Amino acid sequence: MGSNTFFSSSTSLPDANSPTLVLTHPSEAERIQTWTLTHPMWGPALSLDSYVSRESYLTTVPLARHGGITHWILTVSGLPADERPILSSCETLRKRVLYTTTTTTAKDGLKRVVKEGLAHGIGSVFTDKQFRGRGYASRMMTELAKALRGNGGWQRGTMMCVLYSDIGKAFYSKHGWGVFESGHVEFKPKAQDSGEKQGADHRDEAKGESEGKVKMIGYHELAELCCVDERLLRERLSRLANGDEDHDGELKGEKNENKKKKAVHVAIVPELDQMLWHLMREDFMTKHIFGKIPQVKGAVYGEKGNRVWAVWTRGYYGGLEKMEGNTLHILRVVIENEKGISEEQLVEGLRSIVEVARAEAAEWRSEKVQMWNPSQRLRGAIGKIGVEYEYVDRDKDSIASLMWYGDEATEEVDWVCNEKYAWC
Ligand SMILES: CC(C)(COP(=O)(O)OP(=O)(O)OC[C@H]1O[C@@H](n2cnc3c(N)ncnc32)[C@H](O)[C@@H]1OP(=O)(O)O)[C@@H](O)C(=O)NCCC(=O)NCCS
Repeated sequence: MGSNTFFSSSTSLPDANSPTLVLTHPSEAERIQTWTLTHPMWGPALSLDSYVSRESYLTTVPLARHGGITHWILTVSGLPADERPILSSCETLRKRVLYTTTTTTAKDGLKRVVKEGLAHGIGSVFTDKQFRGRGYASRMMTELAKALRGNGGWQRGTMMCVLYSDIGKAFYSKHGWGVFESGHVEFKPKAQDSGEKQGADHRDEAKGESEGKVKMIGYHELAELCCVDERLLRERLSRLANGDEDHDGELKGEKNENKKKKAVHVAIVPELDQMLWHLMREDFMTKHIFGKIPQVKGAVYGEKGNRVWAVWTRGYYGGLEKMEGNTLHILRVVIENEKGISEEQLVEGLRSIVEVARAEAAEWRSEKVQMWNPSQRLRGAIGKIGVEYEYVDRDKDSIASLMWYGDEATEEVDWVCNEKYAWC
């Protein structure tokens, strides 16, 4: 492919440990070259042109724009752009992260607080077939981990990077990423013989069954919900920082005394831009596949102050020809009043929301609905909603992996809200 073919046929390939290799940024033409290479892997639902357009569009949406996305290649130093090989490539997406730490103040002395920093989500790690097995991706990941750490002043304030491995747990953990909980609850769509009318009928039925207490979430409702979510998350992290609560939401003095405490609690902020990145990506895909975009981006149950909601996105890798991978992903589930909501309300709310999600999955030709790493409490409630489900502990795909740059070891990190919204 392009300079890669020329390079591999005319020169002997450099050793992966060679000091002549460099991690740098591709030119515009090289970016298109990497997208052309990755199309068969990640873009079969789209034509090559549409896939390249999508990747280009995804540099302009919230989260990615204003320098949020960075493309990287491993290549040979000293060669001009467009004439050098792309030995391996990937991209990173900048995200806000909240984390707990200790600070010293004149008034209070040592104090546990919540701070904000940057995280980078790494995606699209790829080596051209003709260059595989020579250590190039390994070298790229080693260089990238150093570059993201910010030693060179790049993106100061970076506290961690995350990635979702589709090649199991060994490769990235060998290069310093810790493996975190990677399970999901899976529901079937409401109707297998899906069609637009039936999907919409099911959605109305789900709404009717919960006596109007469930409302659809569209673009316009998201901003307020994400603001509330961030406020609640900050409060929760503060409780975690001070040992007033543990990962599972149990309060001090409850049955958690013997649980091993983690040194640092971190969460990628489930902010509006984070959600919009997923939703605009989804819109691009559905416009190409269905000629229209879905209006329902989630569902919310109950009254303000005591709401339960879920935000979701639809993912299509095989389009309508290869349906197995088509999934309605629940990006984030929020219980607004975690301590005040009754078990009964939670179960009813969750049932209504899951039923809307299943109806949407049917309407939009998704084969399944997935909710990543639900909390203990949510899992308990899911067991009571009366909808068939399966718990899947993934060992190969989308393995949540994190590298912590703070003083603590990565194993000491408690990843709070390890849900699909953080994926890229
Ligand atoms: C995964 C990939 C990037 C590796 O690139 P590479 O330059 O060949 O990687 P390296 O030579 O540095 O390392 C190869 C290692 O990756 C492992 N690996 C490659 N593909 C793998 C797979 N599908 N499952 C598990 N391990 C895999 C190899 O077993 C090897 O392990 P080793 O170091 O213990 O011998 C490349 O195979 C690729 O582009 N695959 C298609 C895209 C993809 O799956 N990307 C990963 C997304 S998370």
